[in-house]
Amino acid sequence: MDNISIARDSRSSVRTSLRRIETPSHNDLENSVFSEYWRFFRTFLRRPATVGSVTPSSRSLARAAVEGCGLATANTVIELGPGTGVFTREILRHIGLSALFIALELEGEHVREIRRKFPRVHVYHDSAENIRQALLKHGRKKADCVISALPWGTMGFKLQDRILQSIFSSLRSEGMFTTFAYAQTLLLPTGRHFRKRLESHFAEVTLSPIVWRNFPPAFVYRCR
Ligand SMILES: C[S@@+](CC[C@H](N)C(=O)[O-])C[C@H]1O[C@@H](n2cnc3c(N)ncnc32)[C@H](O)[C@@H]1O
Repeated sequence: MDNISIARDSRSSVRTSLRRIETPSHNDLENSVFSEYWRFFRTFLRRPATVGSVTPSSRSLARAAVEGCGLATANTVIELGPGTGVFTREILRHIGLSALFIALELEGEHVREIRRKFPRVHVYHDSAENIRQALLKHGRKKADCVISALPWGTMGFKLQDRILQSIFSSLRSEGMFTTFAYAQTLLLPTGRHFRKRLESHFAEVTLSPIVWRNFPPAFVYRCR
């Protein structure tokens, strides 16, 4: 081999190694924050009222949503509307090894994503109206904790009522329901209806301080 071919060979092997370093693998792309935001935004464009937000929630909001739920001792935990999994990740950080974790999600793309990222979670491609059916598949009737990220503000009254009924009837009497709402929805008729329904059903309904590190800013309802 002459000197020119050796130089050409080594240049091409340097280029190949650089490409390996610079090109993210399929997995890296799938898991990057940017692609999570992009997938979320894509589902928002498809069904804006169902998804209810242009970006996933922040970790600060996820932390506020699980606070005080007693997840460490819960046997059965339900998540409604996991989306790309911001709350799911936070719930998994807190639950015990033997807890049953069920999620219900309407968007097929989100269901596939949660199954891929969190194989421990039993995700059903179904509406939050059907918590009871999901529980029965695991031989259970009640949950200790229901954590919701559903877009209450963009739902009609009737759908709100059906989902709330599904939550009320599947929560243990000493169980905890938490859900977030965007701050501005307190002024909307759907937001006011939702709050009234919570206050008429639960003995105790508290509102967290507004989580400003979220777009849009939101607060958490804690109900028991
Ligand atoms: C505001 S996004 C929240 C997503 C994610 N948990 C987060 O905080 O980033 C609402 C999610 O609820 C889902 N969703 C809306 N209506 C639903 C329903 N009736 N049953 C189950 N999931 C629903 C949407 O597809 C979407 O993933």
